[in-house]
Amino acid sequence: MDDLIELTNKLQTVLASISSYESLDLPQIVVVGSQSSGKSSVLETIVQRDFLPRGSGIVTRRPLILQLITQRQPDAEEYGEFMHARDKRFFDFDDIRQEIERETSRLAGANKGISRTPIHLRIYSPKVLTLTLVDLPGLTKVPIGDQPQDIEKQIRSLIMDYISNPNSIILAVSPANMDVANSDSLKLARQVDPEGKRTIGVLTKLDLMDAGTNALDVLMGRSYPLRLGFIGVVNRSQQDILTNKPMTEAIDAEEDFFRQHAAYRSISSRCGTKYLSKQLNSILYTRIKEKLPELRSKLSSLVSQTQQELNQYGDPAFTSGDLHRGSLILKLLTKFSNDFVAAIDGTSSEMS
Ligand code: GDP
Ligand code: NA
Ligand code: MG
Repeated sequence: MDDLIELTNKLQTVLASISSYESLDLPQIVVVGSQSSGKSSVLETIVQRDFLPRGSGIVTRRPLILQLITQRQPDAEEYGEFMHARDKRFFDFDDIRQEIERETSRLAGANKGISRTPIHLRIYSPKVLTLTLVDLPGLTKVPIGDQPQDIEKQIRSLIMDYISNPNSIILAVSPANMDVANSDSLKLARQVDPEGKRTIGVLTKLDLMDAGTNALDVLMGRSYPLRLGFIGVVNRSQQDILTNKPMTEAIDAEEDFFRQHAAYRSISSRCGTKYLSKQLNSILYTRIKEKLPELRSKLSSLVSQTQQELNQYGDPAFTSGDLHRGSLILKLLTKFSNDFVAAIDGTSSEMS
């Protein structure tokens, strides 16, 4: 199953380097929520590493397309790789954070403006499931400092661009210490996915609910209708972050929280970040599988189109830089096309 998602990830990268990326519309998971709802925390717990910029105000100011790729050897070293600096492997996750900050400032300015141009980051690790996630700026109400007056509108339209794509699975993050009926992320998701078919709810901060209250009704799907349901998580608190609580401890503590909680004990196997990762991976797999026939035909027309363009260069003996790049792309596309056909045959024989 990971092979298929991995192939799709690679394809996404190849196509991002030529311009046809948009037209393929590959499935991806888009994280949406208001500021401080816990989006970055959820992403970091999924990756099990600390690597996202933090701070008050709008920290995420460019879309971050995050591809997680499972390393098969359990002792393989974890590292990150940016599309804008592909010759460099980042083994230090603090460097990854700094590089995201640098790249953000480069296009979105040092102040609090936003840019619609995404940053592409891949993380290779034996601890992650193969997934593609998109982190977006959080919904904000009031401009602060020297933010443009229409910052809310800009962010809303950026989020809408991503989630209105029918191939996006919306990860709608809402804090449990607020009424889900008022959740900004769910309100936005409902506009583009009124039947809740491709929205998955994530309820953060379950540990911060008032004593004597719980979110069982939401988690059981009795409060708000979403086909893919709600998953509760407990991320590291601000205090945990300040004291550098290790991610593995945080995940263990999260598991204990659900297992020991009077209200959540009976559903603890369907709670928490590990369960969320597994669900996302399987949702992504199903969506990609549904799209395989379409991807296959789009790919083969892209291959013949590229072949035609290449033919126009004439004799390959007169190799220009362009021609060289073109042949490389063609080789890659052909390889992916073949791999996809193999994957389709593999999955269809799996089903029969
Ligand atoms: P973002 O703005 O949506 O990316 O939110 P962050 O992930 O940066 O989280 C905002 C603050 O809420 C941080 O101080 C986190 O430590 C804290 N936080 C996030 N999730 C939880 C949670 O489940 N429990 C607790 N106690 N704190 C959380
Ligand atoms: Na929200
Ligand atoms: Mg954030």
